[in-house]
Amino acid sequence: MSESSMLGRIEDKKGEAFELGLCNLDDARCLTDMYDLFEPKKASQGLPPENTKTRQEWVRGLLERGENFLARHGDEVVGHAALIPDFVSQDAEFLIFVKQHYRSRGLGSGLTRAALERARDLGLEMVWLTVEGHNFRAIGLYRKFGFVFCEDQGWDRMMLIRL
Ligand SMILES: CC(C)(COP(=O)(O)OP(=O)(O)OC[C@H]1O[C@@H](n2cnc3c(N)ncnc32)[C@H](O)[C@@H]1OP(=O)(O)O)[C@@H](O)C(=O)NCCC(=O)NCCS
Repeated sequence: MSESSMLGRIEDKKGEAFELGLCNLDDARCLTDMYDLFEPKKASQGLPPENTKTRQEWVRGLLERGENFLARHGDEVVGHAALIPDFVSQDAEFLIFVKQHYRSRGLGSGLTRAALERARDLGLEMVWLTVEGHNFRAIGLYRKFGFVFCEDQGWDRMMLIRL
C-alpha cells in the first residue's frame, strides 16, 4: 500500500498494529491472495466465490466498480471492505470480510468506520447491505455503526444507514 493511499494505523484489541488504506487495481494480486486463503469459502451469501476464476473476477469487479479498503498486518492483507456506489441513487452497497484468525479484534470496525467516512465524503446519502439472519457477528458490527434492518427480504436481510 503506498503512503498516499494509507488512511491510518489502528491497534487491535490485542495491541497489534494494522494499517488501513484505500486500494485499487494495483492491489488485485494481494487481495486475491487473501481470498484464496479465506476460510470458509462462501462465508457469507456465497462469497467469496469458491471457484478460483470466479473469485478472481469478483475481486477485479469490486476493484473496478467500488471504493475498496484494506487492513494489512505487515505484508499480509487480513481484511477488506468495499463500497459499490450508485451516484444516481446516491447510495452504495457495502460488503466486508476479515480473515478468520483476525476476527473480533476490532478490524471490522476499523474498516467499516473508514468506509462510512468515505461514503460521507463522496456525498452519498445511504449505505445498504444484505446479511443472513444467523450472521450475528456481522449484524452486531452493523448495528454498532447505526445500520438498521429494513423490510424483511426473506433469508438474506437488508440493513441500511442514512448518512
Ligand atoms: C463480520 C466481520 C466482518 C466482522 O469483523 P470483525 O473484525 O470480527 O469485527 P469487530 O471485531 O470490529 O467487531 C465489531 C462488532 O461486531 C460484534 N461482534 C464481534 N465479534 C462478535 C461475536 N463473536 N459474536 C457476536 N458479535 C460480535 C460486536 O458488536 C463488535 O463490536 P465491539 O467489539 O465494540 O463489541 C467478520 O466476522 C467476517 O469477516 N465474517 C465473515 C464474512 C462475513 O460474514 N461478512 C459480512 C457479510 S454480510
